[in-house]
Amino acid sequence: MQVGFYGHVRQYHNIKDEIDKNISEVLESGNYVMGPMLSKFEEKLASYAGTKYAIGVGNGTDAIWLSLMALGIGKGDEVIIPANTFFATAEAIWIAGAKAVLVDCDPRTKCIDPDAVEAAITDATKAIIPVHLYGHTANMKEVAGIAKRHDLKVIEDNAQSIDGHGNGFRQGELSDAMTISFIIQKNLGCFGDGGAVVTNNAVVDKEVRRLRNHGSLKRNVHTFGFNSRLDDIQAGVLLAKIDHITEWTDLRRSWAKKYSEGLSSCTTIELPYEAPGVRHVYHLYVVETVDASKRDSLQNYLQEAGIDAKTHYSIPIHLQDGYPWGKDAEIRGSLANVEKNASSCVSLPMYPELTADEADYVIEKVRQWDLKNT
Ligand SMILES: Cc1ncc(COP(=O)(O)O)c(C=O)c1O
Repeated sequence: MQVGFYGHVRQYHNIKDEIDKNISEVLESGNYVMGPMLSKFEEKLASYAGTKYAIGVGNGTDAIWLSLMALGIGKGDEVIIPANTFFATAEAIWIAGAKAVLVDCDPRTKCIDPDAVEAAITDATKAIIPVHLYGHTANMKEVAGIAKRHDLKVIEDNAQSIDGHGNGFRQGELSDAMTISFIIQKNLGCFGDGGAVVTNNAVVDKEVRRLRNHGSLKRNVHTFGFNSRLDDIQAGVLLAKIDHITEWTDLRRSWAKKYSEGLSSCTTIELPYEAPGVRHVYHLYVVETVDASKRDSLQNYLQEAGIDAKTHYSIPIHLQDGYPWGKDAEIRGSLANVEKNASSCVSLPMYPELTADEADYVIEKVRQWDLKNT
């Protein structure tokens, strides 16, 4: 059996009529950029997120640096992030001209460790970017408390966890802005690049709208800006998909439950952790080998069995070749949990359109490997 890592085409086939209808509406309208479909999607996204504003942008990376710029963060400012995130979180800070300060993650949730954040704060610190990694919402209550005490801005990098929530709080509720990526493989993915900023802050809304469109809010009137817009075809795809996101998350959660039950007897791997009260959306189902030196063996075993197991992210930012490429960056404190995760992580196939046979096959092969390695 072959088990792929993604189910994009299956998903497209399941709701083809809804997607095709919106794409055709855009094509027939002649409005392909900043048109009515984008506005419709922005309204829908804001109402879904429970925020006053949603602004569609070119991708999830731009969403982060546009938010930083909108909040006035740039040269000379420090921004604290977890070192175990997709590269783009750090990249966005450098694009905004600020310094990336890398800290450790919580050993269980893999999200930023609030104690490490607090210990990393200096007079130059201006913002924290917690990342809702793998589908698990970060501990925003603690992060927001720290931000309040030290007068810092908070941007939630929610590229990976749309439709989740924390213990007693919504995503986007306890921050100045939240950024989303809609790249193909995300839980709410379009057919290319896409992103958004959602916020309750009118200044961030206005600034991101201006910056994404060549510094212009009115035809022919410009200040300094960029070109980073979510195009209307992608907005149409997302408008069709957003109505399904909760049902898709529930499916992901049911596959995660099946994996966790099926793998509960394994002694050589650790299973993903879900903190009490958190709705984990399982963007990724990441196990860790207890013995990091056996990670590649597990991944190769699954690959040879036709299962497309991947790693997220086996080389953390600070261990990439050439880091930090002349950019402003600093590690503060130990990154032991980040490095353990990087060296032992394996992501199993996870998407709503998996079948029970595929999930059973993945469980069977992981268990076989576990028995051989016990
Ligand atoms: C945590 C995280 N932040 C930022 C991004 C950047 O998003 P994009 O690829 O849409 O620029 C991604 C995903 O790609 C991500 O996973």
